[in-house]
Amino acid sequence: MKRQKIIEHAPNAGKAPCDNFRGVTPARILAPIADEMRRLESRIGERLDSDVALVRQVAQYLVESGGKRLRPALLLLAAGACGSRDEARIELAAVVEFIHTATLLHDDVVDASDLRRGRSTANARFGNAAAVLVGDFLYSRAFQMMVGAGSMRVMAVLAEATNAIAEGEVLQLMHCRDPDVGESGYLAVVRRKTAKLFEASARLGAVLAGAPPTLEERLAEYGMRVGTAFQLIDDVLDYSGDVEAIGKSLGDDLAEGNPTLPLIRAMACGSPAQARLVRDAIVSGGREAFAAVLEAVRATGALEYTRELARREAEAARAALEPLAPSAHRDSLLELAAYSVSRRS
Ligand code: IPE
Ligand code: IPE
Ligand code: MG
Ligand code: MG
Repeated sequence: MKRQKIIEHAPNAGKAPCDNFRGVTPARILAPIADEMRRLESRIGERLDSDVALVRQVAQYLVESGGKRLRPALLLLAAGACGSRDEARIELAAVVEFIHTATLLHDDVVDASDLRRGRSTANARFGNAAAVLVGDFLYSRAFQMMVGAGSMRVMAVLAEATNAIAEGEVLQLMHCRDPDVGESGYLAVVRRKTAKLFEASARLGAVLAGAPPTLEERLAEYGMRVGTAFQLIDDVLDYSGDVEAIGKSLGDDLAEGNPTLPLIRAMACGSPAQARLVRDAIVSGGREAFAAVLEAVRATGALEYTRELARREAEAARAALEPLAPSAHRDSLLELAAYSVSRRS
């Protein structure tokens, strides 16, 4: 496949910074936290401050280019659903978005990606070194901010999540070009690299509210399941998404020889010829076989299989919220689980 031409537009370009997330995350979901999301955007802007011009330039470039702000939304909704009005929630919502942004900066270097949020990636624009170093800045700024929040429990949750994300990315690197990873190996990566930060975000909402341990665990489970569904769909969209909508290039996973579930499934239930084709494409990496692999992945129902697994994770996420008292925040969390599967961007 030929590389997609870079589209130089931010998905929400032209909107006020506080409305960045609006075009991509359904406003209905965010309605109970609309004011907090506006405050989050201002807080993010304040905390990006640095005397070093390149730090500001690269960090602002990505942070202000849109993004769904799902992890902070999850934290704020979980806090609201558990009854917290703790002021620290805005700062911690910014912390999880910074951790997420740092992972994106690093991930795009590792995946050699050139398009993110409808723009050139930071590595394509400023080079790998700047992207990695500013990713480190964002991680460490996030840690400065959480120290400011003054809770050992909060720090423990976020330190564990950050560590798990790093493990997940390394595990994925170890799986590169290995067609024999299997579904459980794949899920071990997903749980760490993506689901863990969703889990931490939802858990922190409960922690801020001083919720009982049993309720905290339910919210953590909810976050973990939503995060898993979210990554499963991301892996579907990497084959079948609309480039304009997702703001990323298709085929990045195949280019890296990353054995995601659509490929694992196509090998497991395809004809011997289809299995061979997909296996060879994983081993060699690159984009040349993209069209043929996509055809095999579609013909074997592997995309639908992956979607079905995502639906089941989202259902389990919704079930985990049963003990929560009814509220607009709870309704939004339920919708967020469904959106993680139905999303097109
Ligand atoms: C991208 O996350 C990385 C994955 C876990 C798939 P998002 O899709 O939430 O990225 P933005 O913040 O909205 O750009
Ligand atoms: C998610 O994996 C990356 C992180 C959680 C850091 P992907 O590599 O699939 O994410 P995208 O597709 O680049 O956003
Ligand atoms: Mg990537
Ligand atoms: Mg992806």
